[in-house]
Amino acid sequence: MIDRTRLARLLDRERDAFRGRNPRSAAAYEQARGHLFGGVPMTWMNKTAAGFPLYLAEARGARVTDLDGHEYVDLCLGDTGAMAGHSPQATVDAVADRFGRRGGATVMMPTEDAAWVGAELGRRFGVPYWSFSLTATDANRWAIRLARAITGKPKILVNSYCYHGSVDEVLLVVGPDGEQVSREGNVGAPVDPTVTSRVVEFNDLPSLERELAHGDVAAVLMEPALTNIGIVLPEPGYLEGVRDLTRRYGSLLINDETHTFSAGPGGCTKAWDLHPDIVTIGKAIGGGIPSGGYGLSAEVAARVEAMDGLDLVDMGGVGGTLAGNALSVAAMRATLEHVLTDDAFAAMTELATRFTKGVQEVIDAHRLPWSVTQLGARAEYRFTSPAPRNGGESNAAGDPDLDDYLHVYLANRGVLLTPFHNMALMSPATTEADVDLHHEVFAAAVADLVS
Ligand SMILES: Cc1ncc(COP(=O)(O)O)c(C=O)c1O
Repeated sequence: MIDRTRLARLLDRERDAFRGRNPRSAAAYEQARGHLFGGVPMTWMNKTAAGFPLYLAEARGARVTDLDGHEYVDLCLGDTGAMAGHSPQATVDAVADRFGRRGGATVMMPTEDAAWVGAELGRRFGVPYWSFSLTATDANRWAIRLARAITGKPKILVNSYCYHGSVDEVLLVVGPDGEQVSREGNVGAPVDPTVTSRVVEFNDLPSLERELAHGDVAAVLMEPALTNIGIVLPEPGYLEGVRDLTRRYGSLLINDETHTFSAGPGGCTKAWDLHPDIVTIGKAIGGGIPSGGYGLSAEVAARVEAMDGLDLVDMGGVGGTLAGNALSVAAMRATLEHVLTDDAFAAMTELATRFTKGVQEVIDAHRLPWSVTQLGARAEYRFTSPAPRNGGESNAAGDPDLDDYLHVYLANRGVLLTPFHNMALMSPATTEADVDLHHEVFAAAVADLVS
């Protein structure tokens, strides 16, 4: 359906316009190349459709302003890190109070905020005992170490094309012939991940049972809906089947709610009445301040505590010096108490429904073989229809040129999508007008491409 010559020409046109519009970002990037590896503070920031990243000047709520003075409707929201909106006032106040007025961020002493946050996360996600990290990656790392410790089993099972952070055990996929293989480009793996892990496609219970039947899986680590290869929703009965099988074969179930938190105040776990053994989360719960955590069921906590010889307090392999620091837990408390509230989620979800409907209208108007999928406050379009039912299918539908074209086209007209996705996320500060601006520009981008 897409004329590739026309797409290439339009992409060039948009990249030229981007370069012309952003001389200060271009100059800052050029200057940084002599000092930063890859020219960016972290190498993934080179994931940019236009050839160089926009530099941040200011961000507040759902708006971002770049170094050249352009204001954007930000539907990227730090790939969920800023789902609470940029610098929400309650979080800013709590951080200023903790770090500025009272003082003390990294003191190696608990604060009372931590138990409040643990209780609130317990209320939301149904698992009562929490520990904190500064990233979701670390929450997952530590959760899987505990799972291996208490089950005495060596392997972790994940879904193909999942993402749970830069955790060695998750970087493998189901290959074209059904074999399990290291993910392409996996950097410096200590061992081939097929030694430490098993992988199956999402929504595939027979394969899950086949792999669990080996009896060596400590935990299934999964998102209740995939969000890192487009959004892939569970089919009816799938998640119940996962829970039954993990119980039957003595494997723990870890729900990574870092992105699926968009489904509601207690993520998919609460929204869909799921009963994992461990919940991991990061990104949004600190309102932009590095934060994360893992919550253990009462049974898992008791099993950990009953084990002799686990070094949980020194160098045994869980924890980090700054994890659970006073600043981070103050930010989590303020964000959960005042920003990402039950009411906020209701409004965010309504906006995402508006977003999804508008995108579907454009797809329908041009009879494009594309789909758009919503998960609470998040929605994402994918260049295939019907929507993919697993990670492999979704990966196969990838179209990097089309991604780049839409990203640059939108950026040139004041709308930011997440660089790694065609994902739009709603914050408590996002408005209907913001969503409608996206629709107007998206419709124009599609019309330029297909008419
Ligand atoms: C589901 C999920 N888990 C974990 C992570 C890792 O988060 P972080 O990079 O903050 O450690 C991500 C990042 O995108 C994620 O999507």
